[in-house]
Amino acid sequence: MSSTNAGGSAFSVALVGFGTVGSSVARILCNGAHDRLRLTHICNRGIARKKVDWIPADVTWTDDINAVLRSDADIVVELIGGLDPATNWIRRALEAGKSVVTANKQVIAQGGAELEALAGRQGLQLGFEAAVAGGIPIIHGLRQGLAGDRLFRILAILNGTCNYILTRMEADGVAFDFALREAQELGYAEADPSADVDGMDAQAKLAILSAIGLRRPIAPDSIPLRTITTVDAIDFVYARRLGCTIRQVSRAQSAADGRVRAAVQPMLVSRSSALARVNGSGNIVVVEGELGGETAFSGYGAGGGPTAVAVVSDLESVAAAGGGEAGKLLGGPPARVAQDFDSAHYLRFVVNDRPGIVAALCDVFARHELNVDSVLQDPGGRKEQLAFVMTLDPCDAGLVNAALRDAAALDFHARPPLWMPVLP
Ligand SMILES: NC(=O)c1ccc[n+]([C@@H]2O[C@H](COP(=O)([O-])OP(=O)(O)OC[C@H]3O[C@@H](n4cnc5c(N)ncnc54)[C@H](OP(=O)(O)O)[C@@H]3O)[C@@H](O)[C@H]2O)c1
Repeated sequence: MSSTNAGGSAFSVALVGFGTVGSSVARILCNGAHDRLRLTHICNRGIARKKVDWIPADVTWTDDINAVLRSDADIVVELIGGLDPATNWIRRALEAGKSVVTANKQVIAQGGAELEALAGRQGLQLGFEAAVAGGIPIIHGLRQGLAGDRLFRILAILNGTCNYILTRMEADGVAFDFALREAQELGYAEADPSADVDGMDAQAKLAILSAIGLRRPIAPDSIPLRTITTVDAIDFVYARRLGCTIRQVSRAQSAADGRVRAAVQPMLVSRSSALARVNGSGNIVVVEGELGGETAFSGYGAGGGPTAVAVVSDLESVAAAGGGEAGKLLGGPPARVAQDFDSAHYLRFVVNDRPGIVAALCDVFARHELNVDSVLQDPGGRKEQLAFVMTLDPCDAGLVNAALRDAAALDFHARPPLWMPVLP
């Protein structure tokens, strides 16, 4: 192994994308603490407006990716985001003999196997630590730290925006829209928050974790999603009475038949669980192995600083490996995905009140052979828009959904019923 490149000098690094994460990576590379890494290029569209005075004078600024690909840079860091042109640029960098480090979860979830195979054929590395859970070293943790175990379960909070919104609703009883606006004002949520709140962001990250942790690649869009936008302040009141709170939970579990049970959705989690203790924009990944039991990784899942630390750690890994030895765990045919988790269930109804509603719902559940565990309703509520909750004994989610389709057809609902599984 060598701590320098083939020419014996430090590894030269070209940054592509000089935004939140790119500029934070540049700051770390210019702080003098990383002897074997040397920033040589910064590439961004409209480069003139991106120039800053704290970058050393010998760094080349360019808006031409071809100039980077033709250069003698050893490692290209892709931080522009999105699938296109990032996927193509990463492929071309590898073909040009450069290792690549990226924070791009979409590229890795969709095309990571192919890119990793290309890196392997070229004797290069593809690092993507920052693509999942920002500053938490989960990829290294799973690939190196827990390589001796056989993991079968991943439970995680992978989206800081959702966690910020849900913990704000939990703490102060504010409505979803209020918490979302606040998250946007503070820069935790995008102007279009759908990738976060509807689950696509966590979906891509969970697909990567399944491939690395469970060693079962899955197509990201095969993972069932449920939005958190339907969660209401009243749900935190009822969740608390059940000893729980609400989190957007990403989970994946190996099934004996080769499938992966996976889902991203809002769930009730026990207030004493590790997931319930993650507040604000934090992330956590809890994995369970056959030999080592449960291991939790938690910290900042986003932000320029933490994400840049993950990027630079990948750069150091490339340098430590002398530029060679690509990872090899992402490939293989995708496993089929199922969501038949067994758990208890929380159902919240908002109805125009009249006698017989609970009896009618119990009748539906009895017909589907589902057992009602409890009915919760605060006394003295308004007769119109009355919210109450029923919980069901543990059973397959598919059975609950079939029963809910029948229940939703009854004529007393003021709003569609909300279903959330309760994390066992
Ligand atoms: N921010 C985080 O907390 C975080 C956490 C984990 C992972 N990530 C990932 O890190 C990557 C970068 O995120 P970011 O937050 O740093 O994004 P960002 O602030 O929007 O920065 C992206 C930079 O890339 C440039 N760019 C975009 N498309 C380009 C193109 N086609 N050609 C040339 N330059 C282009 C942008 O230029 P303009 O100035 O013209 O827009 C901008 O300077 C993404 O993959 C993201 O998912 C981010």
